[in-house]
Amino acid sequence: MNIAAVILSYLIGAVSFSYVTGQLLKKLDIRDHGSGNAGATNTLRVLGIGPAVAVLLLDCAKGIAAVWIGYAVSGGDPLIAALCGTASVLGHNWPVYFGFRGGKGVATTIGVLATLVFWPALIAGIVAISVIVITRYVSLGSLLFMIGTTIITALFNQFFDYPFVYVYFLAALTLLSLWKHRENVNRLIKGSESKLGEKVETT
Ligand code: G3P
Repeated sequence: MNIAAVILSYLIGAVSFSYVTGQLLKKLDIRDHGSGNAGATNTLRVLGIGPAVAVLLLDCAKGIAAVWIGYAVSGGDPLIAALCGTASVLGHNWPVYFGFRGGKGVATTIGVLATLVFWPALIAGIVAISVIVITRYVSLGSLLFMIGTTIITALFNQFFDYPFVYVYFLAALTLLSLWKHRENVNRLIKGSESKLGEKVETT
């Protein structure tokens, strides 16, 4: 049952809403446009604000649903909930339905983290949104959100009292995200990362 829940979570995560939205609205493959990433940020570049908000919420909902499926089938076991959440991010990043070419997992990870560790995610989220508003670098804000949520949960867990196993999964999701954002990080260091609202070349 628990294994079935993890597989189901992967399959839910693999529904790439940016790809589906691109196909429905303009019959385009989002991965051939903008940054080439199948995510909400690239949907904003290619399709505009309305579709981007829809993709952000739907991709986020995949992570929330996966964690709740994990809790439901296991009777509240935090390990299974975290495994299901992680599986949904893996599905988003490597979707079986779309040739295993997905996104960087940010929105889905937001859903997972906000469900597992709400307060640390809220605090890190406020910092991340502030950084995005000031710098207009979504990738920088995304990474700060992951790193911040992990550090806050690890350092202040005596205060929050979350199951400590969550910290291992948060760290793993953060490392995964850093790896998926390695080209963004290189561009941030060089100062060539595209900013929110900027047009980018079609790949
Ligand atoms: O949603 C991923 C974001 O952090 C960066 O996306 O398209 O700028 O590589 P993108």
